[in-house]
Amino acid sequence: MLEKELCDILGINIPIVSAPLGGATGPAMTAAVSEAGGFGTIPLWSGGAELVHSGIAAVRALTDRNFAVNLNMDFCREEELQACVDQEVCAVSLFWGVKPDYIEKAKHGGLLVFSTVGNAQEAKIAADAGADVIVAQGWEAGGHVWGQVASMALVPAVVDAVNVPVVAAGGISDGRAMAAALMLGASGVWIGTRFLASHEATIHPEYRQMIFDASEDQTQWASELYNGFWPNAPHRALMNETSRTWEAAGGPDPGQRPGEGETVGRQANGDAVMRYQSHTPGPHTTGDIAAMSLWSGQGVSQVRSPQSAAEIVEEIYREARLTIQAAQSRWCKSG
Ligand SMILES: Cc1cc2nc3c(=O)[nH]c(=O)nc-3n(C[C@H](O)[C@H](O)[C@H](O)COP(=O)(O)O)c2cc1C
Repeated sequence: MLEKELCDILGINIPIVSAPLGGATGPAMTAAVSEAGGFGTIPLWSGGAELVHSGIAAVRALTDRNFAVNLNMDFCREEELQACVDQEVCAVSLFWGVKPDYIEKAKHGGLLVFSTVGNAQEAKIAADAGADVIVAQGWEAGGHVWGQVASMALVPAVVDAVNVPVVAAGGISDGRAMAAALMLGASGVWIGTRFLASHEATIHPEYRQMIFDASEDQTQWASELYNGFWPNAPHRALMNETSRTWEAAGGPDPGQRPGEGETVGRQANGDAVMRYQSHTPGPHTTGDIAAMSLWSGQGVSQVRSPQSAAEIVEEIYREARLTIQAAQSRWCKSG
């Protein structure tokens, strides 16, 4: 029932949300997912209010459907939230901790609020502060990972704790995983790594190919392997030469990591990409792409070929429905 409620709240037909992917989600992906009947999000937390205004305008130039702006609570300033309110965007997604005052301000400004949590207690705090949708992010997730509980245990615990729709995140890369999340009580899914395969993802082709080639046991969670501008933020990325050399050295702290200070490439604007720097390699990044922070979740083994974002939405939804129907008929036969 909450699945319908989620769709009604967001004004969508398909309960699939494309996760905000810093460096990989641009307006094209966000708009394509919303146009396909799901719900797009766009991360706009790294450039102040100006980026929020221009990012919202760029998505609106491509779609008149609803989407959410993702803000990072470690960096968010009031002006960014105010920009979302001024632009009358449909929703904000707040991640990296629950800040009730931000939730209340967003609600006061007329926005729907997604709040990303890593356990049931946080979910309750967020819902009590007025969050409309809780994003339960499991430990399998790619990119920056807030909690330490895997989705299978996290989702039912969060669903039991709150009376608002819960969206499951982490390790959901196909329709079977979506069906499983719905069986755990989620009202929808929040999918990141699978959308790295989309034509719309603004990532380097070598990174995309490494995603296609990786298996479920080839990602690494670390509390501080990659950092730079954002320290003390645990994350999950593909294993590579950088992570293996660091691990072989005993996983030393920043300041003592092998090869620290080396330049491994250049960003599109010419700035250096340093080894261990949090940087999602884009199409115009140059250098040793394979040595960079290649964010990925454990669901990577289900990400095998390039597709449009719309095809991904449609395929996952179709497969989820078929999976649920097939399970029902198996259950009846065995009963
Ligand atoms: C490349 C990449 C960048 C990410 N950047 C952000 C971000 O800017 N904001 C955010 O809330 N989450 C970010 N995440 C986490 C996702 O929103 C989401 O929680 C995660 O991808 C879900 O797990 P999955 O990758 O297994 O689907 C990122 C994930 C990836 C893979």
